[in-house]
Amino acid sequence: MAQETRTAIVTGSARGIGAAVAKRLASDGYKVAVLDLDEAACADTVEAIKAAGGEALAVGANVADEDSVAAAVERIAAELGAPTVLVNNAGIIRDNMLFKMSVDDWDSVMAVHLRGAFLMSRACQKHMVDAKFGRIVNLSSTSALGNRGQANYSAAKAGMQGFTKTLAIELGKFGVTANAIAPGFIETDMTAGTAARVGVPYEDFKKAAASQIPVNRIGQPEDIAHTASFFASEGAGFVSGQVVYVAGGPKD
Ligand SMILES: NC(=O)c1ccc[n+]([C@@H]2O[C@H](COP(=O)([O-])OP(=O)(O)OC[C@H]3O[C@@H](n4cnc5c(N)ncnc54)[C@H](O)[C@@H]3O)[C@@H](O)[C@H]2O)c1
Repeated sequence: MAQETRTAIVTGSARGIGAAVAKRLASDGYKVAVLDLDEAACADTVEAIKAAGGEALAVGANVADEDSVAAAVERIAAELGAPTVLVNNAGIIRDNMLFKMSVDDWDSVMAVHLRGAFLMSRACQKHMVDAKFGRIVNLSSTSALGNRGQANYSAAKAGMQGFTKTLAIELGKFGVTANAIAPGFIETDMTAGTAARVGVPYEDFKKAAASQIPVNRIGQPEDIAHTASFFASEGAGFVSGQVVYVAGGPKD
């Protein structure tokens, strides 16, 4: 049966991992909503997709804000088509040792990762249930296993795993799968920012990270995009509620 082109939303896709996932899903044949805080910042990703012959829409929205999410999903459904693939990738870090962590550090990380994934998934599930098909991919992290200076972030990323498993249980009968990707060290502005914060040149920071990774290199956004592409695919319909560590070696 010929299948109409599906619409995917990738949050936080103005840059980094999200941008790579958006480009990959576009090259896989999806229409892609490139969603980030600032619509203008989405232009690079959208242009790259269009230049490669794909279809994309820039959408400015804050995933942590209920009204912003509702308006964005409504607009995407109207302009691009009902979203049946959702990648909850938007994220921030506010690292601090516990004794120095402010309530704002805690709340803002919870808001973007957990509230954001909840609001986006809730807004999109209706379209997925109507279509009897859906793919939700959530970005967790190896930090879910515990990481010094990241009490807020590791709690949020462990939370993403529980959230994913529950979505898998609730939505499975509607043809909707939910899975999580837990990346290790990936070369993006986020890890560059961490290096700057601890006062280590990024090149040295990357080398040190690579030396601890079994495959002897750090990850690239495309490594995560490849995994997201698999989870989003038609053929992955029997894979649900899983967490895949994409970290160049085993994690548990
Ligand atoms: N880089 C890594 O090593 C790494 C490792 C594990 C997990 N992750 C996770 O992968 C995801 C992407 O990380 P990245 O390294 O590409 O980060 P990044 O900082 O380069 O990009 C994150 C994007 O999310 C957007 N964003 C932030 N808050 C938002 C909000 N409220 N609404 C909409 N968009 C928002 C930012 O504007 C930015 O474009 C994050 O969830 C991150 O926690 C990254």
